Order: sequence, then structure tokens, then C-alpha cells
Amino acid sequence: MFNLAEYLKSKSIIIEKALKGILSECVSGTLCDSINYSLTSGGKRIRPVLVLTAWDILRIDDGKNKQKMTLENCKEIIPLACALEMIHAYSLVHDDLPAMDNDDLRRGKPTNHKVYGDAIAILAGDALLTQAFNELYKLSACYPADKVLKTIKYIADASGMNGMVGGQALDIQNDGITKVGIDEAYLYRTSSCKTGALITASVATPAILLGRDKDVKNFEGYGKAIGVAFQIVDDVLGVTASREELGKTPNIDSDNNKVTFVSLLGIEGAKNRAKEEIKKAKNFISGYGPKAEPLIAIADYIVERKF
Ligand code: IPE
Ligand code: IPE
Ligand code: MG
Ligand code: MG
Repeated sequence: MFNLAEYLKSKSIIIEKALKGILSECVSGTLCDSINYSLTSGGKRIRPVLVLTAWDILRIDDGKNKQKMTLENCKEIIPLACALEMIHAYSLVHDDLPAMDNDDLRRGKPTNHKVYGDAIAILAGDALLTQAFNELYKLSACYPADKVLKTIKYIADASGMNGMVGGQALDIQNDGITKVGIDEAYLYRTSSCKTGALITASVATPAILLGRDKDVKNFEGYGKAIGVAFQIVDDVLGVTASREELGKTPNIDSDNNKVTFVSLLGIEGAKNRAKEEIKKAKNFISGYGPKAEPLIAIADYIVERKF
């Protein structure tokens, strides 16, 4: 039977080794320490795992994935996996800043700005984002230039004003003051952008790089649905899990008076809403048969996870 825990572990080991390699190129003292702090301090690595998984599934069709994955034999896709984790790490460092969620705990440790100060934390985020695009450039050693450019554009869109950053702005405007127009549709849009966009990019861009247009559509559908479910579950865990389980500050949304899926639908209602998205996600990949087992298991994990 497929063992997701083992699967996630083995992929995370590969990604962490690769991230350490990137960090070894940093020469800017405290800035490097701050980047290192947020890039190697744990985390579920779900986005880079999705990159490796989507890539692996597509290579089964090409008859290329006969061996167990190692850092050596997945080198050609590693820059994409690392870039998405770096953009995610930057988003978290900035998300925790006093001007944003003003959070002091992340992955069970003090947040970046609590250790390095706001200025270095802002710069660490900036550097992670910029370096991510430097990683993406490395894809040009193994893939045709047009596919690499398309991938870079997809990730820029997913990260920027109509993607993650745009979603963060919608979230900031959900500040509990007027609450006018903050309905389920607003929350869906917020979650699709702030969380869904990078998750979608993680599954869709391997298909773009490999020139598999039909798969891009299916993987995008899957990614959008698990991305929203991921954020709904994040909101649920925010009120049901303890500080120790979460490694983050519980109840931060209600303390900030934000409207969330939980405040609108209740805990059970929000969980059911997440399960609906997971069902949709699975439908998008139903035609892939046993090779999509890891994507099915990851979809289930997203609603069942405890942190
Ligand atoms: C947390 O993301 C922020 C959201 C987008 C909900 P993750 O839950 O993937 O964070 P880590 O990387 O595992 O800490
Ligand atoms: C984080 O959203 C989304 C991004 C960082 C893009 P949240 O603010 O809800 O996530 P946590 O709970 O701090 O991880
Ligand atoms: Mg936030
Ligand atoms: Mg936050």
C-alpha cells in the first residue's frame, strides 16, 4: 500500500539537500543567516513535493522514471521545486511581519523578524523571491527556452499582483472593521490567490516544462482545488489545534477579527467545504489511474493533516 508519510519524507530529504546547496552560495553574513533560518527550519515542503510528484507522473508516460528518485536523478527539475519553496518561504517571512499578521511563532520557532529584526526579515524575503527566479533560469540547461519562459511567466503571475501578493492584499483588507462584502466568494478569491496560486503553479509548471498541454489543464484544476482546501484547513486548524501542534499562534484570525471560512460556516461546515474541493481535485486526475496515487494521497492529506 502507498505510504504517504514515507513518500513525503523521502522527497523532503532531496529538497532540503538542494536548498542547502543554494544557501551555500550566499555570502552576505546576517542576511544569509536570516534566509537560512526560514528556508531550512522545517515546514511540510508540500509545494516542492508537488513539483517532483507531477514531474514524476508525466515521466512515467515517457518511460523515464524507472529508478527511485534521488537528488542526482531529479537534478533537472530541482530548480523548479526549490524556486517554489523559496517564494513560499519569502511569503511566510513577510506574512508574519508586524505590518501584516504580526505573528511571533512559525514552525515552532520565533518568526524571522523576532530573531533578525524587521529590516533584515524584509530583505531576506526580497532575496528569497529574487533568488527563486535565478533558480528558474537554471532550468534552461535542460529544457527548451520557450518552455522555460512560459514557466517563469506562470510563476511570476502566481506570485504577484494577481496571485499570492494580490491574495495577501485581499486578506489584509479583511481586517474585521467593516466586513462589508466579505462573503464566501471573497474568501474563495482570497484563498485561491494567497495560497492556491503557488500550489497550482507547483503542479502545473512541470507539465508546462515538459510541453504537456492537456496535463497542464488537469493539473491546474487539481491544484486550484487542493489550494483552496489547503487554506480552508489552515483556517480550521487555526481554531482547533494547539500552539504546540501548529507551531504557529492559534486563533490569530479571530483575534484579528477576520472573517474566515470557519467564522462563516462553522468548523464542520468549513471542513465539509474543504472536502468538496478535494473531491473536485480528484475528479481532475481520475483519468491517470494508479500512477496518480501520490496526488490522490496528498489531496486526502490536505484535509486530514493535523498541522
Ligand atoms: C502556510 O503554509 C501558509 C499557507 C499558505 C496556508 P504551509 O502550511 O505549507 O507552511 P509550511 O511550509 O508547512 O510551514
Ligand atoms: C498565509 O496565510 C498565506 C501566505 C503567506 C501567502 P495565513 O496568514 O493565513 O497563513 P499562516 O497561518 O500565517 O501560516
Ligand atoms: Mg496572513
Ligand atoms: Mg499568517
